[in-house]
Amino acid sequence: MTVTLPAAATSKETKPCTPLPSSYYTERLSDVSAGRKPSPIWDLLPVEDTPGMLSMLAGKPNPATFPFKYIHLGVRSPTDKTKIEEIAIEGKDLDAALQYGVTTGFTELVDWVRDMMAQVHGRDPDSEAWRVSLGPGSQDLLYKAMNALVNPGDTVIVEGPTYPGVTPIMAALSCQYAVVDVDDQGAIATDMEKMLANWDRSVKPFPKVFYTIPFGCNPSGVTTSYARRIQLLEIARKYDIIILEDDPYYFLYYGKAPKPPSYFTLEKQLGGEVGRVLRFDSFSKVLAAGFRLGWITGPSTLVAAIERHNSCSVVQPSSLTQAVTLPLLKQWKISGFLAHTVATASFYRQRRDAFEACLNRHLADLAEWTVPEASMFFWLKLRLPPTVRCQNLGSPGEEDEGDSAAFIRDKAMHRGVLLLPGANAYVDDRSTARVRVSFSLLSDEQMEEAVRRLAEVLREESTS
Ligand SMILES: Cc1ncc(COP(=O)(O)O)c(C=O)c1O
Repeated sequence: MTVTLPAAATSKETKPCTPLPSSYYTERLSDVSAGRKPSPIWDLLPVEDTPGMLSMLAGKPNPATFPFKYIHLGVRSPTDKTKIEEIAIEGKDLDAALQYGVTTGFTELVDWVRDMMAQVHGRDPDSEAWRVSLGPGSQDLLYKAMNALVNPGDTVIVEGPTYPGVTPIMAALSCQYAVVDVDDQGAIATDMEKMLANWDRSVKPFPKVFYTIPFGCNPSGVTTSYARRIQLLEIARKYDIIILEDDPYYFLYYGKAPKPPSYFTLEKQLGGEVGRVLRFDSFSKVLAAGFRLGWITGPSTLVAAIERHNSCSVVQPSSLTQAVTLPLLKQWKISGFLAHTVATASFYRQRRDAFEACLNRHLADLAEWTVPEASMFFWLKLRLPPTVRCQNLGSPGEEDEGDSAAFIRDKAMHRGVLLLPGANAYVDDRSTARVRVSFSLLSDEQMEEAVRRLAEVLREESTS
């Protein structure tokens, strides 16, 4: 497949593009999503904001009865981490923080995120029929997106390996899988093309969606290259597949090469139809994971289907979380937020370098790895001792490498080192010698000791 790189995301050149019609998505909604009714209360809540309206709609408690008086926050400046800025939440802002709110999220916060997304991804919400909606973390939004698009038995294309947090969602929805293995450039596009070109619809339904983690994939650490993104997007267009772009590590890219564009950017850069990409973003990795605040960006019709689910489940993202996030982002502005993400990415690059040095010192002859350029994971292939070798059902061409799950459970854990067995990241029951290592938290000394322990147990088991 020949790949022509389009002008960079920053180019002034824009190609004409046409949003897919709303009916495109309604025809693809799952039965459960198509049957979902709007919530009688929460759907009317935005009407309360009409000037002059006296609302007796919702069962909102009176905040005068709540014990909280104010929230004062100390926030590190995005440009000078030693400088602490104060943010006070009181009065009507505190009332909003303690009260029910609209399902989409605080309007001002949604607008802030939309403007940031428009700027960062070079997309225009008004002419391209997309919008943003907040939710309680991207994990929850992923579940709801799958729920909106997939009927029991439908096929989802996933990367091999894929995010271990998403496979239980698909299992619960009785999905079938089509696995496309990943190399150091991302999902192997030629494999995907071959698979789809030869698809036998009498065996499995033709896939509707491709779930991908394009930056610093959890667990493989791979960032899908620019050229590979183009190939994969073109395949998605050719075979009419919706791309679920799960991108919590978008802001944690620290590679030397220019950052590749998101699929959301790329579909506009390539010109023609837009609306094939639904993005999942998260404040978890850049502001606070415990806030449980993420957002979807994509075609309004799909976003609305997910909101209908939200309005009858979580109702809304936490008001308190939003009330803390909003003044911070207003104070920082988009430029301050982006400065903060650059500093955060640089922090993880330093952690990556420190961890890589430990690997080189202790595991050079005991494991293989590719150095990640985003996020917080190494995807190590351990040279496992013969005691944990077993029949490997893994990628074509891969030898019997052993089973890291058994090694971690029976050996490593007892020596005080814990890693995620790679098999959790495959949906096809293969065993693998891979392990996912998260290098985000350990200090230099702890990293050194963790990798030393791992090397020690590998070496001892190999010689025993
Ligand atoms: C690939 C991927 N998707 C989604 C999530 C969930 O993120 P959130 O905290 O926004 O729910 C994670 C969290 O680690 C992740 O790695």
